[in-house]
Amino acid sequence: MGQTWFKYGVCILAVLLVVSACKDSSKQKEAMPAQDQKWWKEAIVYQIYPRSFKDSDGDGVGDLQGIIQKLDYVQSLGVTAVWLNPIYTSPNADNGYDVSDYRNIMEEFGTMEDFDQMMDGMHQRGIKLVMDIVVNHSSNEHEWFKQSRSSRDNPYRDYYHWWPAEKGNPPYRYSLFDAKGDAWQYDSLTNAYYLHYFAKQQPDLNWSNPKVRQEVYDIMKFWADKGVDGFRLDAFQFAAKDTTYPKFPDGFEKDFIQYYAMQDGLHEYLKEMNQAVFSKYDVMSVSEGAGRNFEDAHELVDQDRNELNMAYAFEGVDIPKYKGYDLATMKEVFTKWDQEFAHDGWLSIFLANHDQARMVSRWGNDSEAYRDVSAKLLNTFLLSMRGTPYCYYGDELGMTNIDFDSISQYQDIAAINGYQKALDEGEDMELFMELLNFSSRDNGRTPMQWDATKNAGFSEGDPWLPVNENYMELNVEKENSNENSVLNHFRKMTILRKENPVLVYGDYQLVVPEHPTVYAYTRTLGDEKMLVLLNFSEEDTTFDLNLDGNPSTVVINNYTDLDITDKTVRLLPYQAVILKMD
Ligand code: NOJ
Repeated sequence: MGQTWFKYGVCILAVLLVVSACKDSSKQKEAMPAQDQKWWKEAIVYQIYPRSFKDSDGDGVGDLQGIIQKLDYVQSLGVTAVWLNPIYTSPNADNGYDVSDYRNIMEEFGTMEDFDQMMDGMHQRGIKLVMDIVVNHSSNEHEWFKQSRSSRDNPYRDYYHWWPAEKGNPPYRYSLFDAKGDAWQYDSLTNAYYLHYFAKQQPDLNWSNPKVRQEVYDIMKFWADKGVDGFRLDAFQFAAKDTTYPKFPDGFEKDFIQYYAMQDGLHEYLKEMNQAVFSKYDVMSVSEGAGRNFEDAHELVDQDRNELNMAYAFEGVDIPKYKGYDLATMKEVFTKWDQEFAHDGWLSIFLANHDQARMVSRWGNDSEAYRDVSAKLLNTFLLSMRGTPYCYYGDELGMTNIDFDSISQYQDIAAINGYQKALDEGEDMELFMELLNFSSRDNGRTPMQWDATKNAGFSEGDPWLPVNENYMELNVEKENSNENSVLNHFRKMTILRKENPVLVYGDYQLVVPEHPTVYAYTRTLGDEKMLVLLNFSEEDTTFDLNLDGNPSTVVINNYTDLDITDKTVRLLPYQAVILKMD
């Protein structure tokens, strides 16, 4: 190809270069109004699924002492916050998303002393701790629910939603996890039905009851007083309900968010929560779900609303995915959410979590040939977009989906009940299993792969969920010792993001929007500009750049070389490059 500006790029060299190539971070930030700079916007969040991270006592279940053992590793990633999935006392119908005591630690995970030690260990390492708050529903074994169901005149009756059986069948509501899809569960004790949008072991709390709200704020203050740094509000967009129970159109289940989310009252509850909790501490708040549309999302997160700091919008991870996905749609979705929140509000960026397939299996290519390079590409994307990145444990290694072939291997209540429902409804079970194999939440929950010893070094006992067979080649120990591993690429990316506020705050502008396999964009802050080039395909591609400005320095590259001239660039399969522009 024509005149080559440079053809090099051992990654580590590139990262060292960036330090001198870019203005120091405080200079870059001068282009940002001080009041808009926030620690939670600059945070790099690492999500730990405690059940699967590290087991310290050999019972096959990860625990808090296990996390403590691995804090140096977490620090080595360069992340600045940890979001921990629920660790409260729970009968575990939904792996901790059914809480029976919000002020205690699940026995399998350890004790409150362990928690304090873990949090202190994080804080000593400069890592903040974000807790999962699960208060759309509690466990059916929570004392509130035991009281509530015991009699119709119990003081806790109104903590939940009941429908007396003498009024006839309750109006149909869809449950996401129920084996029959029915969100009303009959309870003979008081001859009434209670509402559960998720499993029947997860009765929905009645947020219109001020006593419930006060209980929740007190629980949050309990944890904030202990020193936690933030809260992720589980399923909170569903907390307010229209208890006149209007009839929904047939087939509403397919679009249930439009009917369940953001009902009247929700914003008042959030403002009240903000007043009672968030405003009193330096904590961050993030909601799972961003409502039904942009307007809802703005109302949740715009600064002048005094509700939440940020939300996860689902439209990205909801892009249809089985057997590939359409890159044009991905670009369109991520771009429109970015543009919509460019000036007001703030969002999170994520490609995976404990409810999703593994990032590289779903968005990249988990074949032996492309697993590493595509995992690096995806981490480059996550850590170079605007919005607070949430990186899921194991994705920093490129951990992949597991291959289960029988329903008996699945542990997830959503998979097990979903299977029963599909069977009852006469679905094509072969297809059902194929889809489950790809998208089951258990894919994202297999034990962390630490090394090549028994059970990938996760546990001395029998792991609660099988370890992925590829752990002998794909593990932390092996990747630590390889300068060009996915893990070390991830570390380079966290350094790059932290040293370059342009990657946090900079304006995002799509480049070559029509390109079928390349996702490219610039990030600009003041006179600092970066160009991100990502080839989402197995084919190499050469294309014109037509940029305003010259790419001058490679600051990250998942290959050793880059072919670029003043006119064209050639990207190898799944090549991911960030260049500084003059
Ligand atoms: C969303 C959580 O992420 C998921 O894991 C859980 O099953 C549901 N909410 C119910 O709490």
